[in-house]
Amino acid sequence: MAKRLDLKDVNIYYGAFHAVQDVSLVVPPNSVTAFIGPSGCGKSTVLRSINRMHEVTPGARVEGSITLDGEDVYGAGVDPVGVRKTIGMVFQRPNPFPTMSIRDNVVAGLRLQGVRGRSALDEVAEESLRGANLWDEVKDRLNKPGGGLSGGQQQRLCIARAIAVSPDVLLMDEPCSALDPISTLAIEDLIGELKKKYTIVIVTHNMQQAARVSDTTGFFNLEATGKPGRLIEINPTEKMFSKPDERATEDYISGRFG
Ligand SMILES: Nc1ncnc2c1ncn2[C@@H]1O[C@H](COP(=O)(O)OP(=O)(O)O)[C@@H](O)[C@H]1O
Ligand SMILES: [Mg+2]
Repeated sequence: MAKRLDLKDVNIYYGAFHAVQDVSLVVPPNSVTAFIGPSGCGKSTVLRSINRMHEVTPGARVEGSITLDGEDVYGAGVDPVGVRKTIGMVFQRPNPFPTMSIRDNVVAGLRLQGVRGRSALDEVAEESLRGANLWDEVKDRLNKPGGGLSGGQQQRLCIARAIAVSPDVLLMDEPCSALDPISTLAIEDLIGELKKKYTIVIVTHNMQQAARVSDTTGFFNLEATGKPGRLIEINPTEKMFSKPDERATEDYISGRFG
């Protein structure tokens, strides 16, 4: 199996606290992998270790190996800023720069990289907004503030901003949990489009969403409070929701706990 991401024996700590234990998984290119499981079992922590956002927290560290297309994400001399460009992230609450224009929000990352030139930036802004299924809704108000958009539009703006820097992988941490059902469906449709170009890992609390959007589902769980979270099972989504290998997965999916 082609491996875009390969996590081997990943253990993740916040200072002395061991948050995640021995996670190994492979993410093939142009696929959607969903992480499900109860709160506090380390889904966000694993996601943030993949693009080195984890280490932004003081005292936080990662052991084990994480590679992107065979390259060690944590290798000596690898620039974490470059990693976060190649492995972009979309958060639970849409976080556009509220007073910045829609257009400038999209190209903010490119500007930071030193890209200049009105027409080059306009081109990327249009392409990214089209890629995020937002262009038609905003093309007549590109100079209006990003904060004036609805929640669902703001989330698609954040996706446009993430894809503007040409990532390989998009990490999404409960990207729909602050959105209404219609906006949620718009994002789910978009995820289906985005996987043609990108590789996606999404954390979701919504099991129907995992079933709808993902090819592979990983179930995380905690044995007990204070113990590290673990990846209990990862399998094709269809199998996870029909005939999972683990009893705990079945219990969680059928709503017996969590
Ligand atoms: N910045 C942090 N500092 C210390 N502990 C944290 C921090 N963020 C998360 N944790 C702890 O790590 C564990 C996993 O959290 P998290 O990855 O957010 O779980 P999930 O996303 O599955 O709800 C939890 O026990 C949580 O309290
Ligand atoms: Mg989380």
